[in-house]
Amino acid sequence: MRGPLSRQSELMRANVAQPRCAISAAAATLFAIGLEAGAARALDGDWVRGERAFQRCFACHSINPAESARLEGPTLFKVVGRPAAAVPGYDYSPALRETARSGLVWDAAALDRYLADPEEAVPGTRMSAPPLRDAQERADLIAYLSRSGRWP
Ligand code: HEC
Repeated sequence: MRGPLSRQSELMRANVAQPRCAISAAAATLFAIGLEAGAARALDGDWVRGERAFQRCFACHSINPAESARLEGPTLFKVVGRPAAAVPGYDYSPALRETARSGLVWDAAALDRYLADPEEAVPGTRMSAPPLRDAQERADLIAYLSRSGRWP
């Protein structure tokens, strides 16, 4: 049903090419991301629970820009709204680089799909984290990540 995120990005790029066609562009985007409970609920996550859920991630990722340890994954500092594969000097997989070239940005919907099943969303990604099946937990995590760089 839900192809890889690269296809979603191609659709989004097609939308960019026709900015005046707002209604069909919106319809195409809705079609592309799917009106799924997970994507819709991504907006009302609880960041406090998300901070705990981040225990699933912190072996490989930090959201602290001052983190000095060399972790396996790229920094997730301010990741929400950031283009994919954009941390300078990080050795991303060809798969994620390729998807990024087609315009993937880590908005809530894209994060929701990547976390739900990294391999399905970006076939060939190097992130070997298990799928996060719980939509509420993904929403909580995204709420937590959204705060990165935006609190005192
Ligand atoms: C076993 C290590 C590991 C774990 C655990 C892990 N990741 Fe990753 N993550 C990676 C690696 C490696 C990449 C780079 C993927 C690539 O290049 O294809 C990555 C990439 C990402 C990206 C894309 C970043 C960018 O700059 O484009 C996001 C977002 C992300 N991970 C979020 C998470 C979250 C949230 C969790 C916790 C649920 C998590 N990861 C758990 C290793 C991990």
